[in-house]
Amino acid sequence: MTNKNYNIVEGFNQIAPAYDLANDAMTMGLHRSWRKTLCRRAADAAPRGSRLLDLATGTGDVLFEIAELRPDLELIGADPSSGMLAQARRKHTERKANQLKKISFVQEDGRSLSYKEGSFDVVTISWGIRNINPLSEGLREIRRVLKPGGQVFVLESGQPEWKAVKLFYRYYSKILPFIGERVSKYRPAYQYYTQSVDGFPSGSEFVARLHEFQFRQPRYEALAGGVVYLYSASKM
Ligand SMILES: C[S@@+](CC[C@H](N)C(=O)[O-])C[C@H]1O[C@@H](n2cnc3c(N)ncnc32)[C@H](O)[C@@H]1O
Repeated sequence: MTNKNYNIVEGFNQIAPAYDLANDAMTMGLHRSWRKTLCRRAADAAPRGSRLLDLATGTGDVLFEIAELRPDLELIGADPSSGMLAQARRKHTERKANQLKKISFVQEDGRSLSYKEGSFDVVTISWGIRNINPLSEGLREIRRVLKPGGQVFVLESGQPEWKAVKLFYRYYSKILPFIGERVSKYRPAYQYYTQSVDGFPSGSEFVARLHEFQFRQPRYEALAGGVVYLYSASKM
């Protein structure tokens, strides 16, 4: 299987009911604390009463976390996968009434968002940017929908920086598809995951792409030795 003939959105539709559980199994729960780091940064950056878009929102965990931290924000989760959105909406209805009002989920493709230029103060995207092909269209759209001075926060898997982590990860990434398959019963999605991480720019390379798309002060922070990266930048 190559990335070319794999239908990414269909893959997420297939694994949606098992997605959260598979993440827990594959990262031993660590994905929750990495995502929390992104949410804290985004929550700190958002002006009072502002609008935040969580792109590639999946099952909605970024928005649920940010809603706890900043109940004043208007939160929109966008994703092209109807299966993932169904899970997000199910979790949404299970939550407290005061968190329901300001969260909405919409079916949107990150390559062509329906929002006007300058619609959002903050855009977040966790483990989603790698799925937007070509990357240039995703970055162009993120920049377009941000207000001038608005900020983007990207969480994404990458190539580990530390030698020991690199070695460990090289072997671990070989068994990831088996763990994902066991939980979700759909192996192609997890084969795609490891292949797409291998081919995706990480650390300073991704920062260079943000520069190229005229984001201001792009920077990165390696989490867990570079298994995961948190990027941030703002729109001029
Ligand atoms: C690995 S999940 C991440 C979900 C969630 N953000 C999280 O932190 O768990 C990747 C998400 O990217 C979405 N996706 C795939 N292609 C996309 C595109 N072209 N535009 C926006 N999102 C896309 C998938 O449907 C999926 O929900």
